[in-house]
Amino acid sequence: DGYDLWLRYKPVAESARVAYAARAAAIAPVAETPTLTVARAELERGLTGLVGQPASAAAGARDGVILLASGATPAITGLGLPLKTLGEEGYLIRTVTVGGKATTVIAANRDIGVLYGVFRYLSLIQTGQSVDKLDIVSVPKVKLRMLNHWDNLDRHVERGYSGQSIFDWWRLPGHVDPRMVDYARANASLGINGTVLNNVNAKADSLTAPFIAKAAALADTFRPYGIKVYLTARFSSPMEIGGLKTADPLDPAVRAFWKAKADEIYKTIPDFGGFLVKANSEGQPGPQDYGRTHVDGANMLADAVGPHGGVVFWRAFVYSHEQPEDRAKQGYNEFKPFDGQFRDNVVIQVKNGAIDFQPREPFHPLFGAMPKTNLGMEFQITKEYLGFSTHLVYLGPMFEETLASDTMAKGKGSTVAKVIDGSLDGRKLTAMAGVANIGSDRNWSGSQFDQANWYVFGRLAWDPEAGTQAIAQDWTRMTFGADPRLVTPVVSMMMGSREAAVDYMTPLGLHHQMGEGHHYGPGPWVSGGPRADWTSVYYAKASETGIGFDRTATGSNATAQYAPAVGACYADLKCVDEKDLLWFHHLPWDYRLKSGDTLWDGMVKRYGRGVSYVDGMNRTWAGLAPYVDARRHREVSDYLKIQRAEAQWWRDASIAWFQTFAKRPLPAGEPAPN
Ligand code: GCU
Repeated sequence: DGYDLWLRYKPVAESARVAYAARAAAIAPVAETPTLTVARAELERGLTGLVGQPASAAAGARDGVILLASGATPAITGLGLPLKTLGEEGYLIRTVTVGGKATTVIAANRDIGVLYGVFRYLSLIQTGQSVDKLDIVSVPKVKLRMLNHWDNLDRHVERGYSGQSIFDWWRLPGHVDPRMVDYARANASLGINGTVLNNVNAKADSLTAPFIAKAAALADTFRPYGIKVYLTARFSSPMEIGGLKTADPLDPAVRAFWKAKADEIYKTIPDFGGFLVKANSEGQPGPQDYGRTHVDGANMLADAVGPHGGVVFWRAFVYSHEQPEDRAKQGYNEFKPFDGQFRDNVVIQVKNGAIDFQPREPFHPLFGAMPKTNLGMEFQITKEYLGFSTHLVYLGPMFEETLASDTMAKGKGSTVAKVIDGSLDGRKLTAMAGVANIGSDRNWSGSQFDQANWYVFGRLAWDPEAGTQAIAQDWTRMTFGADPRLVTPVVSMMMGSREAAVDYMTPLGLHHQMGEGHHYGPGPWVSGGPRADWTSVYYAKASETGIGFDRTATGSNATAQYAPAVGACYADLKCVDEKDLLWFHHLPWDYRLKSGDTLWDGMVKRYGRGVSYVDGMNRTWAGLAPYVDARRHREVSDYLKIQRAEAQWWRDASIAWFQTFAKRPLPAGEPAPN
């Protein structure tokens, strides 16, 4: 039913079993630290499921022993292992000879690296790779690999499509659901090492003593798995729970409140990660309410948690409708001038694009623009704008597209990935966060395929330059089995699925065309209401003469926020990629696309192409029934039918609406909207 995620550990094919079992016949005893204990237990559990129960034996006692080594223990001296290169969380897996016996060493400088190595070792068997001659070294490129849960204390999840909050706030701390251990295992298997437990639209209650105790119970459960807990901090907390009249970050009483609050938290959660803050955005309180700046606010909190080793994530997702400025420009305008002024333990957390997790956005102009600041990536794993949990959309290619984008900040090759992993600007405190899609549903993510989005996020947080097709292959093998008759078509389905969603929702750089408030389904007609920048018509700017948002010098000039070479290309019709066309340009309906089609005809065809792709996924999946258990097969089939109907809905509604402006017939062969 999907509960086991990618950690299913089902028996490998009999033909492969013997060879694996010989290499993984026994596990050497480990020191009984919390993390090594769970690492050994995971290895035993995995091997038992995959190839048969391992024995217990010391390295060198027989062939096929797996040795888990944390630090330069006597067991591995003389093996010449390059532990120095592994840092705090990296690991190596190597086939060696100990006392003349074939042995596999999984070694790291710290226990947590060993656990990561165990998961990697098991994944080799799960994905059908040989474990005979291993020489693997893996070190995470990003320091803080984070989930952000937008979970409220009443268990409602903002933009969550998989049931209630996975965190059972009512029963905590008295009862910790054993599922929390599986949550930690799944995250540790990806190397995720931090989780923000509650919503960015924060309530001050989450920082009161009862909730700190609840968070502490979770922290205790997650600790062996290397996962730290973080909380969001509502900026006005000093007034709401501290009895103060102000939350002004320069007020001594306010600063004292936050210091005392941090001290209180660290008393019960000694390795508390820190705070995530949404300030002066979408009506949330913040330092600007007192005429202060983001720097004043972030640094005050940084000073409170800093002595304890804590970090402040301060979000750059800020915009206000009271500003006449293009919403896409506001984050850059507000943050860029402060480059170099934030404390070393502050991370400015930037969404991948400048609007809001749309099916496609050009990379955020802040990437590359703040070399003296720790900039972290914020991706959205939950599919707020991509069909919630029913549409099959593998987000890997979308994440990869952003990470591979070249900011040109220091010449060619200055990719977003290199900003995020710190290598471009020599930053040490690096971070990638994903807004979680996890909930209380039995299958965790609301759909089988949305598990892949959690998975690919974790893998990219470890290595932002990893290829997402290979990750899709791993996930498919681990989740559904290694039979190539299943793996090849499933991966191909996944790889095209995001482009299909772009096609049937917002082709050619259109954005923010969804239904109002809930963000589900089409709503290109949305206008009026409290603020223009929440309407679709503001973004499409469709009229009888054309469509698209002019962000060149004749329009909002957002292109000037990018490095000159990048901005010039976006602004130039001869250079800009058509996938971003209407993000940057307002064009007449008869504008000629590269295909020779007019803009109108090309748009209509793309909507249809998206629908056809979903047809294709339905056909492919129907043929895969022999390779997938009935229950999961049925769930995916049902969802694909929903997606098919809704892709059509998106196409028809969008075409019907835009046709009222374009006043042109549909190209030959394109059915009239229903
Ligand atoms: C989007 C989303 C909100 C969320 C906000 C944020 O606007 O719709 O639910 O609170 O992003 O990232 O803060």
